Amino acid sequence: MSYSLQGKSVLITAGPTYEAIDPVRFIGNRSSGKMGFALAQAFLNEGARVVLVSGPSALHLQHEHLQLIRVESAQQMLAACSSYMQSYRVAIFAAAVADYRPKYTAKQKIKKKGDELLLELEKTPDILAHFGKHKKNNQLLIGFALETNDEIANAKSKIQRKNLDFIVLNSLQDKGAGFSVDTNKISILDKHNNICNFELKNKEKVAQDILNYLKQNADVF
Ligand code: CTP
Repeated sequence: MSYSLQGKSVLITAGPTYEAIDPVRFIGNRSSGKMGFALAQAFLNEGARVVLVSGPSALHLQHEHLQLIRVESAQQMLAACSSYMQSYRVAIFAAAVADYRPKYTAKQKIKKKGDELLLELEKTPDILAHFGKHKKNNQLLIGFALETNDEIANAKSKIQRKNLDFIVLNSLQDKGAGFSVDTNKISILDKHNNICNFELKNKEKVAQDILNYLKQNADVF
């Protein structure tokens, strides 16, 4: 029997994060939010109640069972997600969270001075790892991994380190996969070392594949 998502609480993160350097500049990345928004839509179609925490993205989504929370930084994303840490049944972390942020944010615009400018960076909180640490038995936790090399080994290590049930791997070596494109080519690796490969397809269909995989395999996690 497949796992029912009807009425279940699903938390999804999407998009990039922006880490402020000064009032007008930031460190960010090219994530569009498409994968996370497509996942939210797929889960809403199955009758789930979805909280979508998104970094800056031009995308919109409205649904009576959707709560869309827009944030900028990794710290804000953590704060928004933390409110749901006890109550979610399924959480999928599709956001491309910046790993580092400026150690100091200038209050005023930094003026051009010498030929070089050194920015001191510090680690952002790892939201997914934090959720992994506090995961309960009835909760399913899913991460994403974007890799350029040693994809399988890196993804397996992330499952362990972050205490995940499974991870969605996309390799930047695959044409049409990754940031700011409408398509993606994924593999799903689970904590029992099973691997499932999928074809290149648009992100709506990829979201459906992830949802179907979850429904079919939830009982083995
Ligand atoms: N993630 C997160 N918070 C962070 C960094 C990453 O929640 N500060 C989540 C992402 O949403 C994704 C997963 O962790 O689901 C993988 O992120 P990634 O940056 O690839 O993993 P890292 O542990 O940072 O490893 P590395 O940079 O070495 O690849």
